[in-house]
Amino acid sequence: LKNVGILAMDMYFPPTCVQQEALEAHDGASKGKYTIGLGQDCLAFCTEVEDVISMSLTVVTSLLEKYGIDPKQIGRLEVGSETVIDKSKSIKTFLMQIFEECDNTDIEGVDSTNACYGGTAALFNCVNWVESSSWDGRYGLVVCTDSAVYAEGPARPTGGAAAIAMLIGPNAPIAFESKFRGSHMSHVYDFYKPNLASEYPVVDGKLSQTCYLMALDSCYKRFCNKFEKLEGKPFSLSDADSFVFHSPYNKLVQKSFARLYFNDFLRNASSVGDVAKEKLAPFTALSGDESYQSRDLEKASQQAAKHLYDAKVQPTTLLPKQVGNMYTASLYAAFVSLLHNKHSTLVGKRVVMFSYGSGLTSTMFSFQLRDGQHPFSLSNIANVMNVSGKLKSRHEFPAEKFVETMKLMEHRYGAKDFVTSKDCSLLSPDTYYLTEVDSMYRRFYAKK
Ligand code: ACO
Repeated sequence: LKNVGILAMDMYFPPTCVQQEALEAHDGASKGKYTIGLGQDCLAFCTEVEDVISMSLTVVTSLLEKYGIDPKQIGRLEVGSETVIDKSKSIKTFLMQIFEECDNTDIEGVDSTNACYGGTAALFNCVNWVESSSWDGRYGLVVCTDSAVYAEGPARPTGGAAAIAMLIGPNAPIAFESKFRGSHMSHVYDFYKPNLASEYPVVDGKLSQTCYLMALDSCYKRFCNKFEKLEGKPFSLSDADSFVFHSPYNKLVQKSFARLYFNDFLRNASSVGDVAKEKLAPFTALSGDESYQSRDLEKASQQAAKHLYDAKVQPTTLLPKQVGNMYTASLYAAFVSLLHNKHSTLVGKRVVMFSYGSGLTSTMFSFQLRDGQHPFSLSNIANVMNVSGKLKSRHEFPAEKFVETMKLMEHRYGAKDFVTSKDCSLLSPDTYYLTEVDSMYRRFYAKK
């Protein structure tokens, strides 16, 4: 089998959002803290009629319809999510409603969970299945769905919500280079959800930033080693056209790319010019730990890498800045941004992806982008996803109304015996929404 990878994609995010500038003012944060400090523009959130199940029902039906895929043609369905609605029943089983209707119940796969990494685990599972001896010739389908909400405080502006669906098979325009993979996994308490009565995580913000950057370093080293072993030449930032990062907030993405550039400098790679070498020379002697704490290094490497950031990273940042952290969907939303901005010039290009899930699990891997055959071409995928249209048709809520919604959702989390307002006036046609949770905690949805 050749070029197994992503054949088609679709994305959904709630039309309800709050501007970061409004949130800043409401929270009494200093002006620019969320917009410049975190680098975020806007935050999407679920109101009481939406959740990770409704969003994934919406995105799966939309993908099947827009690419003309018969639901019988799906042989494996994997969901990545860290939003716990039920401790036993998977989100995947809710999605089976779509397939049962067409008499297809022969679909493997369940949910994968580890913070923001579950989507990547689901994706690898599907790709591995297609490449395995148990593959039956049908498509795999991966869904990343999350609602990222935080308690009041400094982490709240890094929320977001979305669902992304990806169709998996051979001869894909977004093909895995499965040999080049570097992972780093370890046990830390940087972000976790031990309180089962609350949707909010416990988060050590500073530790999570350092863990993310350490994992990035480690994955990059391993990725480079594998590349060099197989290709017989060293890897540097010049060997890929785009770098896509899990994006909790844009500032961390800026720091991450600068960190890769600093790695290239330490490895004496060709991607680093003489002027930059001079600027970074004072930091050569820093120990690993010191280098994560050095503000001067952060500044110098961001400056030195700026021209490469603009070319190789900036086109991936639109949706994460506009929608917020989408947890499992965040990395793939950054990739969707790249397709949206650059689809006509991507054929033949290599894209490097970095997936991070707190706790922690992380992998760096890469895609080779190819001419696909309609409907599975890069330009058709960009067309179907209609990112501009979806961003334009959003409804901005004042910060007070966002906070009010968060309060209502706190009460609704884990609750039973209620009906929602069923107000779907802000949702676009064909969107699924939650109508009721009955006395047995059973959830019911309708389609607009
Ligand atoms: N104008 C411009 N910039 C400002 C302003 C201002 N008025 N005020 C602050 N800033 C800058 C700060 O200098 C800082 O930038 P820097 O990192 O380059 O120094 C940035 O804004 C953030 O300010 P902090 O004081 O560091 O913010 P705080 O500690 O209050 O919260 C944090 C930030 C820790 C990221 C918090 O939002 C959080 O905990 N988020 C969730 C955890 C997270 O996303 N971790 C990432 C990996 S794990 C995951 O994906 C969930």
